[in-house]
Amino acid sequence: MANLDPSASIPLGIARYHGDEAAEPGMLDFAVNVRHAAPPAWLVQRLATELPDLARYPGAADERAAIDAVAARHGRARDEVAPLAGAAEGFALLPNLRPRLAAVVAPSFTEPAIALRAAGLILQHVVVDRPFSLADARVPDDADLVVVGNPTNPTSVLHTREQILALRRPGRIVVLDEAFADSVPGEPESLADEPLPDVLVLRSLTKTWSLAGLRVGYALGAPDVLARLTAGRPHWPVGTLQLMAIAACCAPDAVAEAAAEARRLAVLRTEMVAGLRAAGVEPVDGCAPFVLFTVGDAQLVRKHLHARGIAVRRCDTFIGLDGRYLRAAVRPEWPLLVEALREVLP
Ligand SMILES: Cc1ncc(COP(=O)(O)O)c(C=O)c1O
Repeated sequence: MANLDPSASIPLGIARYHGDEAAEPGMLDFAVNVRHAAPPAWLVQRLATELPDLARYPGAADERAAIDAVAARHGRARDEVAPLAGAAEGFALLPNLRPRLAAVVAPSFTEPAIALRAAGLILQHVVVDRPFSLADARVPDDADLVVVGNPTNPTSVLHTREQILALRRPGRIVVLDEAFADSVPGEPESLADEPLPDVLVLRSLTKTWSLAGLRVGYALGAPDVLARLTAGRPHWPVGTLQLMAIAACCAPDAVAEAAAEARRLAVLRTEMVAGLRAAGVEPVDGCAPFVLFTVGDAQLVRKHLHARGIAVRRCDTFIGLDGRYLRAAVRPEWPLLVEALREVLP
């Protein structure tokens, strides 16, 4: 069952809690979903070659190279692509679409709601209960902006294209947060390659390529929607290093590398979920590179794990989740998490 909770809100400070706050140096970090401790060597090298050129402002050629790479990767026209300083910048720009009523399907990443609320816009959370299916979401008919994550963070649920397309209405823009779409083998439910006039897709390159510090992503949408979204941005909103990284990560070799890793991650995920189940916790069915699961008292379990040098993500900062949930990134070190959970759980 789903319910519409117009009053659902949590204080800004709590909603702005992110996984990077959970891990202290030296801890085994399952709280952050950035894939590796460093970007691949070839990418670091490419970025390093650009460093001596930093005196130069970003130019049309830099932007064109990034846009061309994204357009080719998704089979889109050039004017359907906008490079972003991370998907987070796309969320910050959402108020430019001036919705009369925005609906955010929850539980989900909190930044879109924060940006809309900070702009003084009217916002409703559409909370879906476990199993967190979009089929259960009662989105108000008059919502002219609907934000959905696919796969959704933190639930890891991958909604079908049909479920997402069913959200379309005349006068409405559907915003898809596809920050983790490239972690799902074959990206079966992604709408990034579909030139729909009313669907805006936000993609991140920071997780898969371990570039969270660089801030890289892009938006895909109809040219008029992108023009409205990006209006009023400062000049040179995305730097030369960022544009280069966007071009590099969307080149065919990089896309193939990411696809191969997505397949490896999926296998690892299956093993990790089985391990968690065997340890007595209940993972939510999903397919993102993180696992949401319930334990009795999440706060207590998190504290015990922390004392053992293991960081997991608290989830009571997400609208729609309570104090039973924890989220852990899919990592090869998962047996250590499972072992610690076995010790910690009653
Ligand atoms: C679901 C989701 N979307 C978007 C973002 C932000 O992505 P970026 O680093 O590209 O700004 C995050 C970061 O944690 C996320 O979890």
